[in-house]
Amino acid sequence: MNQSEVKKAEGKLGILVVGLGAVSTTFITGVLMARKGLAKPIGSSTQYDVIRVGEGADKKYLHYNQIIPLASLDQIEFGSWDVYPQNAFESAMNCEVLKEKDILPVKDELEAIKPMKAAFDKNYAKRLEGDNVKDCKTRWEMVEALREDIRNFKAEHKCDRIVVLWAASTEVYVPVDEKVHYNLADLEAAMKADDREHIAPSMCYAYAALVEGAPFIMGAPNTTVDFPAMWELAEKTKMPIAGKDFKTGQTLVKSGFAPIIGVRHLGLAGWFSTNILGNRDGLVLDEPANFRTKEVSKLSTLESILVPEKQPDLYTDYYHKVRINYYPPRNDNKEGWDNIDIFGWMGYPMQIKINFLCRDSILAAPLCLDLCLLIDMAARCGWYGTQRFLSFFLKSPMHDYTKDEVPVNNLFEQYVMLKNAVREMGGYKADELID
Ligand SMILES: NC(=O)c1ccc[n+]([C@@H]2O[C@H](COP(=O)([O-])OP(=O)(O)OC[C@H]3O[C@@H](n4cnc5c(N)ncnc54)[C@H](O)[C@@H]3O)[C@@H](O)[C@H]2O)c1
Repeated sequence: MNQSEVKKAEGKLGILVVGLGAVSTTFITGVLMARKGLAKPIGSSTQYDVIRVGEGADKKYLHYNQIIPLASLDQIEFGSWDVYPQNAFESAMNCEVLKEKDILPVKDELEAIKPMKAAFDKNYAKRLEGDNVKDCKTRWEMVEALREDIRNFKAEHKCDRIVVLWAASTEVYVPVDEKVHYNLADLEAAMKADDREHIAPSMCYAYAALVEGAPFIMGAPNTTVDFPAMWELAEKTKMPIAGKDFKTGQTLVKSGFAPIIGVRHLGLAGWFSTNILGNRDGLVLDEPANFRTKEVSKLSTLESILVPEKQPDLYTDYYHKVRINYYPPRNDNKEGWDNIDIFGWMGYPMQIKINFLCRDSILAAPLCLDLCLLIDMAARCGWYGTQRFLSFFLKSPMHDYTKDEVPVNNLFEQYVMLKNAVREMGGYKADELID
């Protein structure tokens, strides 16, 4: 694209995080520590990846920030909303993801991040008890209060731009309803009529962000921006959106491993995934209606990688099951087990077992950083609507299901999309040459 159309990363980038729990505080603490040189942002593509640009004699290998004008870590200003009143320091200590020694050096900065009152409805996360909640009579009032928060934060912190990132709890499953979610006028009418069944609080955050000129990222599996009325709003406001659900542990493994089965043309009889998790996320997901949202997101991964219609002998009727079990002793240190039943030559069965002892928030934090920096970059390029190139970081990539668009779930295809978007934003040609 023409580089004169790309706005530079001038001034401060405000990152407003919805939810100040395990993921957010790990993300924020890591950024603050990294900019003091006390920790390394490991796992972050924007900070580490090197991409080839150009071909033949013009070929060069460059870091993202040598290709595109990304905001630097020093330019970031953090804010947040949460149902609980604890500041980012207290919350980071309570979450017990990071050791005290990795939090204390940035204690002052973290203490200054005090969550604004949340736009919350207990029916959407029954297990949460916090009282740092806005007193709004209708969903429309929630939108207006959130818009004011964004404006105030931007002015108080002298930010040039804002990005809103949802890293709050998974809400109960809201199925898309054509009468409410298919066009913007109906969505706005439902917000004004206080239709609490169809309008989740997260939709109010997204609506507020977009009309205030801030890109919105959905890090949980919530329906929030995954329907035509929000796409219409993103188009109208010329703002980029991305979602859903950070691709961290088990689904990262699945979207990286399933292509092995696919490219070797082995058959799949079944894939059983189970987890134990003991943090507040696990507690919320212990509620069946909240787990349903996660289940839909996690199940979607395999279908577009191992496609029955393309290979009926190999992928017809495989059994795919995903479970999450709340188990407090493990806290944020999730353990995932995958049992994969495959079959090979002449139909002979084999099994693969994967046991991933991961740290949920340690895997999610770099994705938060990359998503925020890249969506801000996309906005400065004038890109709006669903940013498919960000699927690399997301478990259940948004796609236009009203037009039968198939999402790309294969990690390696997503990586090509990401690299090509960076090339294009940097004024280079998109290509699929082997690096
Ligand atoms: N950690 C991972 O690997 C991972 C991967 C994919 C998705 N996620 C999702 O990221 C989200 C955050 O995970 P976490 O481990 O930090 O959870 P957490 O429970 O530690 O933090 C979430 C916070 O959100 C707050 N919250 C809930 N509803 C809110 C609202 N309406 N407004 C403002 N705040 C609200 C809660 O009070 C809580 O403090 C979850 O939805 C989780 O499913 C996490």
